[in-house]
Amino acid sequence: MNHPLIKHKLTIIRDKNTGSKEFRELVKEVSMLMAYEVTRDLHLEEIEIETPVSKTKSQVISGKKLGLVPILRAGLGMVEGMLSLLPAARVGHVGLYRDPETLKPVEYYCKLPSDVNERELIVLDPMLATGGSASAAIGFLKDRGAESIKLVCLIAAPEGIEVVKEAHPDVDIYVASVDEKLNDHAYIIPGLGDAGDRLFGTK
Ligand code: PRP
Ligand code: URA
Repeated sequence: MNHPLIKHKLTIIRDKNTGSKEFRELVKEVSMLMAYEVTRDLHLEEIEIETPVSKTKSQVISGKKLGLVPILRAGLGMVEGMLSLLPAARVGHVGLYRDPETLKPVEYYCKLPSDVNERELIVLDPMLATGGSASAAIGFLKDRGAESIKLVCLIAAPEGIEVVKEAHPDVDIYVASVDEKLNDHAYIIPGLGDAGDRLFGTK
């Protein structure tokens, strides 16, 4: 995404001297700005309303209802910003962590809205590194009946984008920045470090 506000805020998020409080606030703000772009293709329908001075036809959002699905933990940091623009969205949670040895995602929690098959789902995770976590989360959602899924990340490595595109060609991916590469520990370079730790102050 090329918006100057997103670029500016992302620079502060990346800075290692930015503490958890400011990091959380900025992740929320960037998520809200991204929600604006991600919802650009929502369907509209015309309804009749009455202003204080006349009757008129005007547009409202129609079509499938929305569901936000943060990947725990770090995806939680994006929920509030998204909800501030999409207050009616339901929120499901998928708990995954990346095993530090194998780098493979391990599922530990899943709770979704019961009508997940009827919703347009927006999967949230600040980091798309190897793509293992996002691919697995999207796979779990499809196993549970989800048909319409978008993925929204703050920072992605080219490798991770390829992995998700290969596994889920039907899923549109929205990222604030595509970074250079992964390092030997599968961290994104330059990235922002460990998103979960920086959000929650666990390191
Ligand atoms: C981070 C991040 C993604 C995942 C990305 O989560 O939030 O979910 O790594 O890596 P991948 O694309 O290589 O799978 P982490 O496993 O550190 O868990 P946490 O959110 O609980 O800190
Ligand atoms: N997970 C993170 O939090 N950061 C990375 O750079 C890669 C995976």
